[in-house]
Formats: sequence, C-alpha cells, structure tokens
Amino acid sequence: MGVKKSRFGRTAEGKEVLIYTLVNSKGMGIEVSNYGATLISVTTPDKNGRFDDVVLGYDDVTDYIENEGYFGATIGRNGNRIGKGVVMINGTSYQLDQNEKENNLHSGFSGFDKVVWNSEVSEDGKTVSFTHHSPNMDQGIPGSFDVMVSYTLTQEDEVKIHYQGRADQDTIANLTNHSYFNLAGHGSGDVLNHSVWLNADAFTVVDSESIPTGELRSVKGTPMDFTSPKKIGEEIGADYEQLLLTGGYDHNYVLNSQDGEMIKCAEVTEEGSGRVMEVYTDCVGVQFYTGNFVGRRFGKDGVIYDKRSGFCLETQFYPDHIHHEHFPTAVLKVGELYDTTTIYKFGIQK
Ligand code: GLA
Repeated sequence: MGVKKSRFGRTAEGKEVLIYTLVNSKGMGIEVSNYGATLISVTTPDKNGRFDDVVLGYDDVTDYIENEGYFGATIGRNGNRIGKGVVMINGTSYQLDQNEKENNLHSGFSGFDKVVWNSEVSEDGKTVSFTHHSPNMDQGIPGSFDVMVSYTLTQEDEVKIHYQGRADQDTIANLTNHSYFNLAGHGSGDVLNHSVWLNADAFTVVDSESIPTGELRSVKGTPMDFTSPKKIGEEIGADYEQLLLTGGYDHNYVLNSQDGEMIKCAEVTEEGSGRVMEVYTDCVGVQFYTGNFVGRRFGKDGVIYDKRSGFCLETQFYPDHIHHEHFPTAVLKVGELYDTTTIYKFGIQK
C-alpha cells in the first residue's frame, strides 16, 4: 500500500496537475488526477495473472483538458442532459450552457471535469480526496456548493468513489464518474464481446436528442433487456427505435432499488481475460453508454481508440430529472448533505 504523487503537467493558467498512484497489497493499482478529479487508470490481473489497464485515457494532460468524451472525469454539478438547458428552482428559471444542440450535457463548458481540485491523501494511504468550492451561479446554477469526491482502493480490489456536498441555497447535485472500461485491456478493440447484466427492469425512453420523454419503459421483450447477462454486441444493431436514435446503448436504466440502499447494479464479464467488474451504488439510475461517439484517436501508450472501444456505467439521477415530476429529484436543499457512493469491484470469473 502507499500513495505515490507525481507531476502530470500544468494547465494553460499554470496550475499544477498531479497524478496519485495507489496500489493494494495484491498489486492492483489505480491512478487518479486532481484535474477533473479523474480516474486515469485501473490495473488489474486477468485469469493468468497478467496485469492490464482496463480504463481508457490519455498520456498527456492536454488531452484531458480537451477531453471531448469525458474519459474518466468526474461530472458535476449535473451529470447527463437537461432539456434546453433550463432549470426551475423554487419558481425561478435559470439558463445553463447549451453545449449539445439546445441542451445542457454534463454541466456545460465549465463542469467539474474542467476544474483543478484540491487534493489530500488519507493517513492509511488508501484514499485520495478531492475537494472544490463551486461558487454561487457557477455553471448557471444557484447556491455555492462545497463538494468532495474521494477514491479509495480497497484490499478487496474495489475502487470506491464517494461523493459529498453541501450548498448554501437549494441547488442541483448529481455527480457521476465517466470512466470508459474495456476489461480485455484499454487498447484491445471494441467491447461488443463483453457480457453485461443490469439490475434494472426499466429504462428512460428518449427523444431524438437523447432527452427523456418521461416514459419509463419495461425492458422485457426489447433489446434493452440486460436482466440476464447478454453480450453487448448481441442486439446493439437491432432495428429498435431507441437504439437507432442513439447509435447503440446510451440510456439511463432505472435501478430496481430506489430507496438509497447500496445495491449491486451491474456486472460485466469479458471471457477472454476472465475479468469481471461488479458495480454497486446507492443511486437510482445508471447510464449505460457503449462509446458510440468515441471517434478514432490516440489513447494511453499510443494505442488507438475508436467507436465502442469502451463502455460506461455512469451512476446518477435520471437525465432531465428537473422536468419530470415522477423522476426522483436531484435538487439538493440548503443545508442537506449530498452523499452517494459507487463501487467498481474487479475480479476473475469463477
Ligand atoms: C454521456 C452521454 C453520451 C455522450 C457521452 C460523452 O454518456 O450519454 O451520449 O454524450 O456522455 O461523449
């Protein structure tokens, strides 16, 4: 165990960007950066004991500053989309950035993915915590918001991400992590052969701009069904309107527990390597995204990524929650504690 701190580079404004490396006693390692409170790598053994990095990312800090696909980043204050970028809080309407067509995606042009966070390492060397003070009206949202995201690497090969925040006015708090995983190794082609199980009987139906219509639809009898393990590639090309609209899976799944209990929300297996990733969360939703918009580009170690080179499981409130009364609310009341945890646990197929 122990944490190594190294220099990654500087932002255009001259702020120092760091990388923290955590390794557990079994040799599993992760790297996180204070730029965007980003998960840079997760190195885990396969069934033959060979270690590979299973998270997509970049070698250079300037690529993270660009970071078009939000590789590994912490997204906030609000993950996912808000229709027309308008939110109404306590009767007042606020206009957020319209950075994807007329809509707000992942908090616009100055999201938490663009922030150099303060960082602190825990005494036991298992946790790196990032903190940030987001001022009133930051990103167009009312209330100053003090937020923390911490990464813990446990002896059980878990990457535990814990978020906390408090605001001085009613605000929106809906953070997520945008890591792209490829359990065969980050440079090993597409993820269509990965087998996925999701603990969700329904998903939020979207329109042509990926904004929820409000309908919660049962996955039963549709290609959206992952209630039994299924290869990503099996039905991704099906002639099903929801998949055609988004060019593959890019939907919020309504998790089967909605009461804030920590549940197992997903399990992904890659037979070739034997690697398994389980996801646990107390969130109500998870965006399952199959990297449909990842364009050809260089990644870490000079490898080339392309469409579907990784998948994301972004735990969150439902997209456009603010416009649908029957969706759980992401409004954080003044003085309340925003507190949520998601765990990505790695292992080998039994
Ligand atoms: C999210 C969205 C996708 C895409 C990616 C970023 O997961 O749901 O549609 O915008 O972020 O490229």
